[in-house]
Amino acid sequence: MGLPGKTRGKSGQWAARQQRDPYVKQARQLGFRSRAAFKLAQIDRQYRLLKADSIIVDLGSAPGGWSQYAANQVHAANQVVAVDCLVMQVIDKVQFIHGDFTQTAVTAQIAAALARHGGRADVVLSDMAPNISGIRSADQARAAELQHAIVQFCRHSLKPDGQLLSKLFVGETTADLRAQLSAEFAQVRTVKPPASRPQSKEIYLLARGYHGAA
Ligand SMILES: C[S@@+](CC[C@H](N)C(=O)[O-])C[C@H]1O[C@@H](n2cnc3c(N)ncnc32)[C@H](O)[C@@H]1O
Repeated sequence: MGLPGKTRGKSGQWAARQQRDPYVKQARQLGFRSRAAFKLAQIDRQYRLLKADSIIVDLGSAPGGWSQYAANQVHAANQVVAVDCLVMQVIDKVQFIHGDFTQTAVTAQIAAALARHGGRADVVLSDMAPNISGIRSADQARAAELQHAIVQFCRHSLKPDGQLLSKLFVGETTADLRAQLSAEFAQVRTVKPPASRPQSKEIYLLARGYHGAA
């Protein structure tokens, strides 16, 4: 029997929540490496992001739920280029690049992978979150830096009319980021799929119709 609620530590609460979570159970049944796969699946079903011929970059891909889902949508090998600081186990049809996507050496590897497909991606996905220090201002600044790096990345890696789906946590810099994306994409919307826990500040910005900076 589990510990009574009041004496459960944070890890106990996490384990209990995981046990109750229908998406965790479903992910296990379907062989997805993370419940996060359902967030992408739900967004994709609603907004039709991924096509059989899409070239997709999955930033912050480990353990691999999004990459697994994306690989199921495309028809050929290496159409999904996945990147993470952590090692990710092999997924069929996915080319994995190990490293921090903000590092030049890693960007060069992504560019080499995209060169096989004409040099740019149709879709950039990011489920990344920066490490949290607990100091609010520092965490906000890091989150903004990461989003800024994603926008920069789109400038040299996304096709005209391409799409970006990027996770962020609602905060002081959200409006700025939205404005920045609105200047470079035809349409930006906020998406909160059912699999994203309602109590979480996590949202996704879906930016479509990339046209670049003026
Ligand atoms: C929430 S997890 C992604 C889960 C994934 N979408 C899935 O479905 O399994 C976020 C990942 O982003 C990665 N990450 C964070 N910052 C990164 C960076 N600058 N470059 C590469 N990966 C990064 C972390 O290592 C972590 O594995």
